[in-house]
Amino acid sequence: MFISPKITASTSFSPGGDVLHFSTTGGTQPDGISEREFSGRHNQLLLIHLEGRRELWVGLGDPDSINRRTFNHLCGTAARRLQSIGCTELTINLHQFADFVGPAVEGLIIALHKFDTFLPREKKSESSITKVIITVPSERLRDARKEIKDSIVLAEATNLARQIGDSPPNHLVPATLAQEAKKAAAKWGLGCRIWTESMLAKEGFGGILGVGQGSINPPRLIRLDYDAPSKKAPTLLVIGKAVTFDTGGISIKGRAGLAEMKWDKMGGCAALGIAVAAARLKIPINLTVLIPAVENMPDGKAFRPGDILSIYGGQTVEIIDTDAEGRLILADALAYGAAKIAPAAAITLATLTGACIVALGNQRAGLFTTNQEWSKQLLELGESCGDRVWPLPLGDEYATEMNSHVASIKNLGSREAGASSAASFLAFFAGKMPLIHLDIAGPAQITTAKSWLEEGATGFGVRLISHFARKFTP
Ligand code: BES
Ligand code: MN
Ligand code: ZN
Repeated sequence: MFISPKITASTSFSPGGDVLHFSTTGGTQPDGISEREFSGRHNQLLLIHLEGRRELWVGLGDPDSINRRTFNHLCGTAARRLQSIGCTELTINLHQFADFVGPAVEGLIIALHKFDTFLPREKKSESSITKVIITVPSERLRDARKEIKDSIVLAEATNLARQIGDSPPNHLVPATLAQEAKKAAAKWGLGCRIWTESMLAKEGFGGILGVGQGSINPPRLIRLDYDAPSKKAPTLLVIGKAVTFDTGGISIKGRAGLAEMKWDKMGGCAALGIAVAAARLKIPINLTVLIPAVENMPDGKAFRPGDILSIYGGQTVEIIDTDAEGRLILADALAYGAAKIAPAAAITLATLTGACIVALGNQRAGLFTTNQEWSKQLLELGESCGDRVWPLPLGDEYATEMNSHVASIKNLGSREAGASSAASFLAFFAGKMPLIHLDIAGPAQITTAKSWLEEGATGFGVRLISHFARKFTP
């Protein structure tokens, strides 16, 4: 298991260890190095050996184009490079870049995490960087210490989501996810309640039960609660889809890319990370997290197209396609949230549709909300923290396509605008709760490593929603 290095702030260099410097084009040059060798252009790395230590210089490019997201990635790239050459102690010189302490810390901790639980010893690479000192001007020291603390929390919460997210579907089933949530809740002082299959049946969670009934691994509903220090604080509800493996069920998927469906639980994993971050950061907002967890399998007992499921609270859904399962388990959670929590806003995080990947690619999540203020905030927060989003429409025109003659609604619209009809299905079950839906099917995982990130789960949404929750105003 990856353990974050110890990170502190200081005003001066300490001897020993390696040093990481950043520079822009036209900025500080390493001593005795020509501009042809290092110009500070974006993504440029130069390693210099000096007596007793090494210096890695990283180019940030045009000084006007530096932002928190690219700084984060470049620090991650540098950390992975330093790790690969056996760096153990590192000083990061941020004297000229003291605004980027947070991105540097997040970039580093997230870049160094690797899912190696099942690797044999000879294939495990030791995480060598154990101590990091960040140097800043003395007037920035206090801010830097605070930012380091917060960013460690956000990065570790992201890594928690990634660690559980990369766990294989034979090990990570709904019950094990519930155990992980329970463990995290005990560690960080969150309220925790877990519904087993019989409890779900007693209270009428027909969406979760219907999708889960084809698997030998029974479903769970996980609830985590964080209470703000102030009683008057508004309440946010975060719901994360956790399909621990999505075969499509009776409407079975093809064989291509099927192993990637272990990441169909990333909404739930992110929601767990968000709950932990909220508790550790003591955010001024009450937070309830709901994680419906199921495995979607084809089986003699599986639900089928044509079935009608009764969602929590009494609405019914005519099943057209068992592969549109995420919305069914989210419907139960939304209906429960509307009835029992009545939050100021509900946020759903879900790897919900391939259509969203077609629309936006792998780097941005689809953002669906009717609240323009929240939409603007999420767009801006995404650009700076790196969990980028782009708005897509919700609307009655999509809901109309799901009119059913035998139930409240069908679980499938037309072929077109699949991400919007899925989102509109969720809005139907959100009722009067203001809804923010993030379709994270694209950015929840990467299948080839980046220079700043191992391949696998990304923890998308943990940082974005943690920042949003911190500043949330109804
Ligand atoms: N989990 C998938 C969505 C998905 C697809 C995530 C590809 C990541 C990569 C979801 O449950 C699903 O199967 N969606 C269907 C919806 C369709 C049946 C309306 C899809 O996108 O094809
Ligand atoms: Mn599916
Ligand atoms: Zn799915």
